[in-house]
Amino acid sequence: MRSKVTVVGAGNVGATAVQRIHQLGYADTVLVDVVEDLPQGKALDMLESGPVIGSDANVIGSNDYEATAGSDVVVITAGIARRPGMSRDDLLITNMNITTAVTQQVVKYSPDCIILAVTNPLDAMCQNIFEASGFPRSRVLGMAGVLDTARFRTFIAQELDVSVEDVQAYVLGGHGDDMVPLVRYTTVGGIPISEMMSAETVEALVQRTRQGGGEIVALLKAGSAYYAPSASITQMVEAILLDKKRILPGCAYLEGEFGINGLCVGVPVKVGAGGMEQVIEIKLTNEEQAALNASAASVQELVDVMRRARADGA
Ligand code: NAI
Ligand code: 2OP
Repeated sequence: MRSKVTVVGAGNVGATAVQRIHQLGYADTVLVDVVEDLPQGKALDMLESGPVIGSDANVIGSNDYEATAGSDVVVITAGIARRPGMSRDDLLITNMNITTAVTQQVVKYSPDCIILAVTNPLDAMCQNIFEASGFPRSRVLGMAGVLDTARFRTFIAQELDVSVEDVQAYVLGGHGDDMVPLVRYTTVGGIPISEMMSAETVEALVQRTRQGGGEIVALLKAGSAYYAPSASITQMVEAILLDKKRILPGCAYLEGEFGINGLCVGVPVKVGAGGMEQVIEIKLTNEEQAALNASAASVQELVDVMRRARADGA
């Protein structure tokens, strides 16, 4: 029997994620959106690609959640995307209300699923979804670190003219401008990056990574990145469905790890059939810990804004 994956939000990220998951061939997918006929049309179009790409998996589109019942994994991309000149934080309250409503439906129809949060601002939405779901922390995680790390790895590979496959890196913290690319843990073919390029070049690539989302927004002009985000979602979904126990940067609810308590932030996690199976608590230098704390403080500010908005009946 094939696994079942629901993706909520049939926009650029959600639809592209379903396309990639369908292509894997071992998971049936359900695409959900509030826009009438949109998920149905995109799902049918993808289904009709099956004979060409060799996928027998089913893809259906829906405007309600009955079709999602019994999903193993639910990816939440529903919301509004960043537009030029708009910060991730501007999205906060609108997307909080959207993700709360979506989570309630997801939990009703798939009480045993693992939820992958994608909607921005990612860490705050992951926290909102975690709280709205009532799930244990292992069954709610967020995707951003895989994307941010992919950007960092791309820039390093370009700079050194080496294969992206040989570049290993970690980007921790919130999915914002103060994310924390961990230079000390970044290697090329196992060689520390500090041996391969100057500190100035590393710093320039770190800065470009921090602004990676904005760089795409400025080029696209309408909407934000979706090819690399959907590839990153697919890697995390695959790690869950195939119980791969991958060590990936993921947004997880921390309970004291890294000195952070009661907050969803990007850290290294083990991803397998149980979802977020373990927070991998690596040793940080004082400087790295201070950067992670600063990034977590930015996430906490958003969480506080959400709490106040909820108290005011937003
Ligand atoms: P999009 O605008 O193309 O698609 C969003 C979709 O959500 C639309 O089709 C819209 O109709 C739908 N939607 C809105 N309210 C809904 C509801 N209540 N129920 C179901 N569907 C609903 O946006 P895109 O580019 O697909 O991005 C989606 C989200 O993902 C945005 O918040 C964006 O900022 C975020 N994002 C996060 C990334 C990450 O690394 N975590 C990377 C890229 C995007
Ligand atoms: C990105 O980093 C918009 O968060 C999204 O591309």
